Amino acid sequence: MGKGHYLRIRPAGKLQGTVMLPGDKSLSHRALLLAALGEGESVIDNCLHAGVTQAMMECLRNLGVQIRVNEAPGGQPTGSAAVVVGGRGLRGLNEPEQPLYCGGSATTMRLMSGILAGQPVRSTLDGNARLRERPMDRIVEPLRAKGAVIRTTAGNAPLTFFPAELKSSSHVLPTASAQVKSALLLAGLFADGPTTVSEPHGSRDHTERMLRNLGVRVEERLDRAGRHVVRILEGISRLPRMHMRLPSDPSSAAFIIVAGLIVPGSDIAVPGVCVNPGRIGLLSVLREAGADITLRMEPNVNGVEPVATIEVAAGPLTNVTIHGHRVTAMIDEFPIFAVAATQANGTTVVRDAAELRLKESDRIQAVTEELTKLGARMEPREDGFVVHGPTRLKGAMVDGRGDHRLAMSLAVAGLAAEGETLIQGWEVMNESFPEFPSVLRRLGADVSW
Ligand code: S3P
Repeated sequence: MGKGHYLRIRPAGKLQGTVMLPGDKSLSHRALLLAALGEGESVIDNCLHAGVTQAMMECLRNLGVQIRVNEAPGGQPTGSAAVVVGGRGLRGLNEPEQPLYCGGSATTMRLMSGILAGQPVRSTLDGNARLRERPMDRIVEPLRAKGAVIRTTAGNAPLTFFPAELKSSSHVLPTASAQVKSALLLAGLFADGPTTVSEPHGSRDHTERMLRNLGVRVEERLDRAGRHVVRILEGISRLPRMHMRLPSDPSSAAFIIVAGLIVPGSDIAVPGVCVNPGRIGLLSVLREAGADITLRMEPNVNGVEPVATIEVAAGPLTNVTIHGHRVTAMIDEFPIFAVAATQANGTTVVRDAAELRLKESDRIQAVTEELTKLGARMEPREDGFVVHGPTRLKGAMVDGRGDHRLAMSLAVAGLAAEGETLIQGWEVMNESFPEFPSVLRRLGADVSW
């Protein structure tokens, strides 16, 4: 991607074609971390190679892990790489000489915390200004209850970890969160007994699947109150190395899918996408709104995650209401869902989604303000938003506000708007989907930079 000041989008004719997208962000983070703790050399094919995973890789390198990134060869989609990780064993990370910098990546910070809590070395995690504002007490408090010794800055990053013996523990999370659950399960690998985590309902279960695939005993059940409970039976002494091919990211696919739905005449296929039930809430909501979306299941090479080709054709949408547990399975998709809602007939309502205020931006405020600049009729609510549709959007100057998913959503809105849309701060797309503008262009969009 070049360095033009703005991303410029003009109304598109129909978008058509088949596009391969980069590897899944959540899976890439987990695979890198677990490979670093493994015995010997692991290979991760189709690993996301973007800002957030580079942050994870840099942190691991500073802990003594050797990582080689082979871009392009071996049929990796652009934005992905075959990554070779020299595992250090479960307790073999070096004491870092400097703070480990997570950039804007909360997944790096929160998952890494689970590992660092159990290492016999001292280490500090830090991040950019936004990450320093995002809540870390949600992992620090339960990790302390597990025996971890952590110093925070008033509950936030920088976080410093001191050597500690971790013990068995049981946690009741007030909000479903895969990051918090995963931090605790990863810390559970170092504990002297079981680690139990209960969520109001299940969040994405990538950590559980990957751990099981590596031979760790992980149990799941619903308790009598209907809460989702996960348990790691005991700490372990070693993790094997892995050779894994990761499926593409459904959260990146979401931008392409909504573009295909709202640009008249479009017809797009995205093969090889992870369709873990904890990730594809957007697809069921869009189908409920009348979207023409087909999933063709594909053989799953690793036996770990379900994979499908997603096919989408443009057509009319109607309003829906989203609340309760449905929010979790589409937690990263609300900015792009709001764009779809501007084109749907009727009033779309999102509730129970206050977590959106704690993401890369305050997504309730930021999405409302930026889409309003394009003519959307939208109101923020304390725990969600309301969108009145359909609206003929009008091109304008908008701002990605340091949030990759907001920037990409605005680009899709621009495709459906009259006139020209200019996106300031669009480079932030590099965080999770560096090739997004090129992929849009390959599908026929008028995008320049
Ligand atoms: C993620 C979990 C979600 C999501 C984030 C990635 C993960 O965060 O928003 O982008 O990989 O576990 P929360 O656990 O805070 O909901």
